[in-house]
Formats: sequence, structure tokens, C-alpha cells
Amino acid sequence: MSKFKVVVCDHIHDKGLNILENEKDIDYVYAAKVDKTELLDVIEDADVIVTRSSTDVDQKLLDKVKNLKAIVRAGVGVDNVDIDGCSKQGIIVMNVPTANTIAAVELTMTHMLSAVRTFPLANDELKNKRIWKRENWYGTELKDKKLGVIGFGNIGSRVGIRSKAFEMDVIAYDPYIDSRKATDAGVKYTTNFDDILDCDIITIHTPKNKETIDMIGEAEIAKMKDGVVLINCARGGLYNEDALYNNLQSGKIRFAGIDVFITEPATDNKLLDCDNIFATPHLGANTRESQQKISIQAAEQAIAAARGAAYPNALNLPIKENELPDYVKPFLELTQKMGFLAAQANRGAIRNIELTLEGEIEEYKDSLITFATVGALTHTIGDNINYVNATFVAKEREITLGAKGEAPHSGVNNKVTVKVVTENGEISISGTVFEESILRILDINGFDLDVEPRGKMIILRNSDVPGVIGNVGTLLGGHNINISDFRLGRKNSEALALIIVDEDITVEVQEELKALDACINLAYAVI
Ligand code: 3PG
Repeated sequence: MSKFKVVVCDHIHDKGLNILENEKDIDYVYAAKVDKTELLDVIEDADVIVTRSSTDVDQKLLDKVKNLKAIVRAGVGVDNVDIDGCSKQGIIVMNVPTANTIAAVELTMTHMLSAVRTFPLANDELKNKRIWKRENWYGTELKDKKLGVIGFGNIGSRVGIRSKAFEMDVIAYDPYIDSRKATDAGVKYTTNFDDILDCDIITIHTPKNKETIDMIGEAEIAKMKDGVVLINCARGGLYNEDALYNNLQSGKIRFAGIDVFITEPATDNKLLDCDNIFATPHLGANTRESQQKISIQAAEQAIAAARGAAYPNALNLPIKENELPDYVKPFLELTQKMGFLAAQANRGAIRNIELTLEGEIEEYKDSLITFATVGALTHTIGDNINYVNATFVAKEREITLGAKGEAPHSGVNNKVTVKVVTENGEISISGTVFEESILRILDINGFDLDVEPRGKMIILRNSDVPGVIGNVGTLLGGHNINISDFRLGRKNSEALALIIVDEDITVEVQEELKALDACINLAYAVI
């Protein structure tokens, strides 16, 4: 039996490793101790890799891998994963988003309490220097202090709620949440960042991206209270490290509790030279409970992805199947089939793929255009196209993609029209889904039809003159080709026949059909 290779690139809990070890179709390699350059050779033929923040998924890694289907980030942060690069190569990126929430929340509380009570310094003086000087260590209380929480998601909101228990005055800044998430928890909500800068203690819980890098720099610190306390257990670089250093040195910042650094391991970071920084080596997720949970989920996700069975917590799939209403799924299939059919019936370099959507289905236009693109490009590119890389491949080939809605006017609740424009012309195919997931093509280029998109299909456009059906039947019969369905649409003085046959139609037979007097054009497609 051929096995799927899963490489675990960073340390994860034994529970997850045992799960990988016990699956018969998984060949698992533990490479956490392997040097990162050597690692590239180990993962060359991997189907799935499991990483943490110590492994950068960058172009160097992506250039090396040949079979990689998926990456499981055993944790939350994917700022060191080149998601666009993965998408271009059709690699699915998953994370394990919530298993370490509590660990990160509690580390933040630890840093906050440590900072205001100078806990590490007092500990160091007694334990390492054997000095008993209680008068050296007067701290401050959390009670009645103003806490500014930047980012009020999974972690930030829990920090806020716990800080309320310490009777703090908590204020949240997060433009991406409903303000009620804060106010319902008894936390003030602000859209004015200056309200945060006015706090006694500030903690940040945002992802690291263009918007959040250097969110706190010299200008922001200048506006803060003298003696402010800053905590960062999220990502290095959200607080500008130079500004942090300067203001720790000057005493403007009384203490900083920092778990994360721009470059890790951070043993050479100049911040460590400041006496008033309390630093930990990226321990946000390091509790036994969280590591156990993360490793189990990461292992299960890696196995499912290796088998191609499921991609839980995928970050770069255009659809989350579990979240789609049941009625949408057959429309995705229909749209992909119509894209595939359109590209075969209108061969040539594709310039434009456009969807027109009638009805509620319009809401899913982003997923539908991806499925149409996969269908259309599968004809030209084959298996190398998938839901992850479709829009990237289209962009690279300068194919324009578009999707627009229209008020329903066709007598069906939902209708999808796929138009594929190539250098040789254009084709429009419309379809719908009837009850019990019955896929139907309703129209090709304005010719009304009612046919299931399946099998070997001849699309014949002809002058609407007597004898065409008989001639086609005789010609196909002469080649022992059985017709299983024959649908006809008429428009002006032309007709369009969609003929489903049981046997393959050779190029020669296609040429004979094209030679019929009434034939205007003919296409052959297999779905
Ligand atoms: C995360 O993003 O999940 C945390 O920062 C933990 O990262 P780690 O798995 O590298 O410890």
C-alpha cells in the first residue's frame, strides 16, 4: 500500500505524534530536531507538513516541495506562512485556531501581574543574589487601572473579561468586531485609538499584518502616560522594537511584558538589555493542555488532508463546505460542469469567464466563480488546477473573472449563467438545480434547452430546416453510435441540438457532422 508522507517540522505533543504513528497509510517523519536547511530535503516528497512558528513557510520551502498538498500550522498565527505562495501552488493552509486561546490569555495575565509587582526582579534578587530587601519592591495594583485592549477577538476579549475580575477599567479597540461583544462583557468600546493610548496598561492581541505592524511606535508612545506598562503576547513587531527600546531606556515605559519578537529565537535582541522588560521565549501556547489539544487536532487535520478527505480550518479555500446551505452545493457542481462544458465547446485561449446569477445564489458568487474557473481551466490545464490556485492561475494567464447578480426573470428561483470568452468567440450556458439536486442546463447561447449536463455531448447549431434530426440520426447510426438523449432549442431560423451519445465521437465523425448542409457549427464535449 502506498503511504502518505507527513513531516512534523517542529515540536508537538506526543499525543499527536502517536496518532500519526498509528495510522497504517501514514508514513510520518519527526523532523523537529533537523536543521532547517536539511529539513528542505526531508520535506521534498512530503504530502503534508505540520509546522509551528519556528518553521518559515517561504518561497525557499515552496520551491523545494514536489507533492505537498497541505500545511497544518499547529497553532494560530500564520504570519510566517506565505499563504498566497501556497495558494499559487495549490497547497492548502490550515491552522488550529482555538486550542491555545486560554494559554495565551493566561500568559498575558501573568505578564501583566508580573510587571506591576516587579515579580521577576524580586525573585531574581532573593533567589540569585540572596538579598532580602522588601522596600525595593513596591508595585502597583491592577484595581482601578485603565487597561487598553487592542484586538478584541478570541484572546483579547478573554483578557478583557479576566481583567474586569481584577476590577480594572477595560477599554477595547477593534474595528472588526460588533461593539456589543465588548459592551455586553462590561468593557468600554472605542473607535478612537487615542483612548487606548491614554491607558495605564496596554495589551495587544491582533494578528500580524500590514495594518498592525508598528501599530505602536514613537508617535503613539509619545502620547501615552509616563510610566505606562505595555504587554505583547501576540506577535513581534506590533510594537515597534526600536521605539520600545528607546522608551524603556528613558523610563517613559515603566515596564514591558514581552513574549514575542520580530526575529526569533531572540537571544541577541537589544530589548533584553533593558532592566525593565520581562521577557519570555514565545510561550503563548506553551501549556500542557493547549499543546496536547493542538497536537491532536493538528495530527487529525494532517491525516484528513493527506487522504484528501477534508481540510478543517483551511485558510485559503474559497469555500467552507460545512458552512454552506445545502441548496448551494449542487450549484457549485453545476457551475463547474458548465465551465468545463463551455471551455470544450468554445476551444481556444480563454480571455474572460463571467457569471450572471439570478436569485439568492448571488450571495455565493465568490465560490461560484472559483468553481466555474476550475471547470473552464481543467480543460486546458488538467489536474494542476484546483480550488486553491484557480484564481491565481487565471490571473497569471491574464484571464478576467467576473460575477454579477441580476433580478430573477427566468421563472426559476436561482439561475447561473457561465460565459466563456476565448480568442475564437464566446459561449453562454445557463443552468439551475431542481429539487433533489437535479442539475439542468436551461439554455446555451440563448437556445432554450432542458438537459442534464452529463456524458458525451454533441452541440450542433444548424439552420432550422426539415430533415436535420433524421440526417444526424442516420449518420450516427451508421457509425453504431447510440443516441441516449436529444434536446432541441429553436431561435429565429436556427436550432441548437444537444445530443448525448453512448459512444465516443471521433474527429472523423465530427467532421462528417460538420459537413451536413444545415450545420452552422459543431462542438463535442465530455463531462
Ligand atoms: C500561535 O500562533 O499559535 C502562538 O503564537 C504559538 O506559536 P507556537 O506554536 O510557535 O508556539
